[in-house]
Amino acid sequence: MKKTILLLGSGELGKEFTIAVKRYGHRVIAVDSYDGAPTMQVTNEREVIDMLSGDDLDRIVAKHKPDIIVPEIEAIRTERFYDYEKQGIEVIPSARAANFTMNRKAIRDLASKELGLKTARYEYAKTIEEFRDALAKIGIPCVVKPLVSSSGKGQSYIRNANEIEHAWEIAMTKSRAKVNEVIVEEFISFDSEITLLTVTQRNGETLFCPPIGHRQERGDYMESWQPAEISAKHLAEAQRMTGAVTKSLTGFGIWGVEFFLSNKDGVYFSELSPRPHDTGMVTMSGSQNFTEFDLHARAVLGLPIPAIILERTGASAVILAPDESPKEPSYEGLDQALSVPGIEIRIFGKPATRKYRRMGVALASDKLGTPITVLRDRAKEAAAKVRVM
Ligand SMILES: Nc1ncnc2c1ncn2[C@@H]1O[C@H](COP(=O)(O)OP(=O)(O)OP(=O)(O)O)[C@@H](O)[C@H]1O
Ligand SMILES: [Mg+2]
Repeated sequence: MKKTILLLGSGELGKEFTIAVKRYGHRVIAVDSYDGAPTMQVTNEREVIDMLSGDDLDRIVAKHKPDIIVPEIEAIRTERFYDYEKQGIEVIPSARAANFTMNRKAIRDLASKELGLKTARYEYAKTIEEFRDALAKIGIPCVVKPLVSSSGKGQSYIRNANEIEHAWEIAMTKSRAKVNEVIVEEFISFDSEITLLTVTQRNGETLFCPPIGHRQERGDYMESWQPAEISAKHLAEAQRMTGAVTKSLTGFGIWGVEFFLSNKDGVYFSELSPRPHDTGMVTMSGSQNFTEFDLHARAVLGLPIPAIILERTGASAVILAPDESPKEPSYEGLDQALSVPGIEIRIFGKPATRKYRRMGVALASDKLGTPITVLRDRAKEAAAKVRVM
């Protein structure tokens, strides 16, 4: 039966997910706060709403009567999802998972206090006084993040006491939603970080993808690779933690679960997104037999996933805008980038630029056993050849 899927958020991840479900014959309505968003290029219908308005959300849900609601972003009125579930609409992965992960507090307290997972030590603060108390408890260096934010927005590191006020200021002004509270986290001096893509299925067991390594700058991902180097012991620990948190949050779909790995201190749970993960774009390189979007599509639709197999070594590197412009950019250098074997480029088609906005991604893959460093270099080289004009 043809299903109507309401996709909340219409970025590059939603675009690939939409292509995956449309290949199975379903219908997608793309929703975002601006017109011409990447997913809207591949759907038949679209809605432009205030993503933080519960009334707008109720209105389009009533209008389109979707069978399934698939959130692509965090900053939406997820508390309404419980009601949609009661109306018989499926929320992916579940109303509870979407609601808990939109706010760092809910997910962190669940992971640390309820499930006992190892995380960085943390405190919350609503005022500058509470902030100073929190800093006294956590110590410097530390990391400050608004409770509702993503892609590093409003996030900063405090390395010395001079940076305290600035950190408070940017956390307050860059928060996505109007939750004026921050989390102060102990700075973890990790050796590497990974995303463990995980699929929970309606009619099958939980599946783990080979771990993805990544590197972040300004709180945003710059490059990722698969497989990431990790000891069997640390991988088992990360999988155990993932199993605990996804079981508690309930539901079906793909999850991007982020961990810090320290040779000295072991595995730290950092956060998770109950949806395809940006670092997981590396799966579009052909590194595994299913992309993360194909996996999400199958899990959302209740279709079988026989096995996830690592087939090649893969890497991704982002293509960023150099500056701000309200006009749709053009892209130069695709011909040079694509002349290298094993390279693929995806341009998202965003209608405007901001400095450091992610506009596309370069993908590199080669046979298993090819050193990751070689592929990372190839992906970065290809990304550098594409110029956003
Ligand atoms: N406690 C910490 N210690 C050290 N580094 C950290 C800590 N918290 C975050 N980071 C670094 O900042 C990055 C972004 O942090 P986090 O994932 O919490 O924020 P985010 O805004 O949700 O990012 P995204 O939405 O891109 O996943 C992490 O991937 C890591 O590199
Ligand atoms: Mg993150």
